[in-house]
Amino acid sequence: MKSLQALVDNPNLSGAYTGVQISRNVIKSWRVMKTRNCSRKSLITLCALGFSAAGLAAAPALSRDRVETLLQSLADAPGPSGYEEEVRAIMVRELKPFATHISYDGLGSVIAQHGVSGPRVMLDAHMDELGGIVRRITPEGFLSMQMVGGWLDQALLGQRWVILGSKGTVHAVTGIRDIHVLPQDERNKVFPRNDIFLDVGAKNAAEVAALGIEAGDPVAPDAPFAVLNGSQRYLGKAWDDRAGCAVVIEVMRRLAAEGHPNILIVAATTQEETGVRGAHTAADVVHPDIGIAIEGGVAGDVPGARPEETQARLGAGPGVFLYDSSEQPNRRLVGLIKETGKAEKIPLQFDLVSGYGDDSSAIQASNGGVPAVNIVVPVRYTHAHNGVMDRNDFDRTVDLVVALIKRLDSATVKRVRDFAP
Ligand code: CO
Repeated sequence: MKSLQALVDNPNLSGAYTGVQISRNVIKSWRVMKTRNCSRKSLITLCALGFSAAGLAAAPALSRDRVETLLQSLADAPGPSGYEEEVRAIMVRELKPFATHISYDGLGSVIAQHGVSGPRVMLDAHMDELGGIVRRITPEGFLSMQMVGGWLDQALLGQRWVILGSKGTVHAVTGIRDIHVLPQDERNKVFPRNDIFLDVGAKNAAEVAALGIEAGDPVAPDAPFAVLNGSQRYLGKAWDDRAGCAVVIEVMRRLAAEGHPNILIVAATTQEETGVRGAHTAADVVHPDIGIAIEGGVAGDVPGARPEETQARLGAGPGVFLYDSSEQPNRRLVGLIKETGKAEKIPLQFDLVSGYGDDSSAIQASNGGVPAVNIVVPVRYTHAHNGVMDRNDFDRTVDLVVALIKRLDSATVKRVRDFAP
């Protein structure tokens, strides 16, 4: 009975245990009990439990918590820059119960407001991810692709993708040259992105067209979410920035219930990976007094990484950027974050990453200049099909941002924005 209950209670159950498997366990236990001559009553109890457990297990979401389910749905949703529809639908669904007002900018960013008085605090995360756009269909039925966002060429080959065609999702693979026919001098070479092609299983261009695919259709990585081996670490695509999308949802949920001394405006933006375009247009609409971008950070706790590149480690808490190539945070705002972390006993990781840009750059340059900061959930292997994030970092980031926004009352925001000598 304990093991069955543990099975149902296990928060890391990734939906792999089906009702059938649980029923098999019950039958196995039944056989053991039978040979041990157990009472009829305990057999009946065991059966009832087994059936209810099987019923519960049939809906995997019940065996996991809300946040994990939210992170999975956000990570699995395809949404390359400019084609954020599926992510936008999740954001609106999740923000609507807490927002007093939802609107959109002209590039499709979602703007959800809570609160009617006090300074305007823009809390930002971007919905888009890296992807591609179908460029050309060959007579043999292969597709070439315009890559969208900052891909490494070596991340592109031998991967699964989905094409969002007019007749629905089409599965594809980026073909890799077969080693058996590859000349020796080409075996260690990185193949440039313009040499790669998508294979959708079609024999010719007409079969590709029949699948509902044409030039201009978006292509997204296909890399389903998984809990890494019962750990608190989540494997998935697009943690940059679906981790941030989940943070802003959870922050709005908490602040709507707990209260805050400002107008909170959550902006879920589009086209960050192609030049922070949605943050630019969203900030035009929001007119923020303070900007907080939430991003996937760059974890450096992997073989070969150097501390001068990034110092963040998974599981060591939220990251705060002190510099990146697109933005410098307001120093008083960083001071307030340090105070907040200390008061709330949240460990912080400070980082300076030179090859990195984010939405806070567009926010800081809006509305006559806005004190801004980039707060991150550290991620290993961003801008690739498979990234890893840590659930504890996520939870502590939500705690930090909630506590920070509660401190952003009129007097504090006035102090942060005061540049008089
Ligand atoms: Co990002």
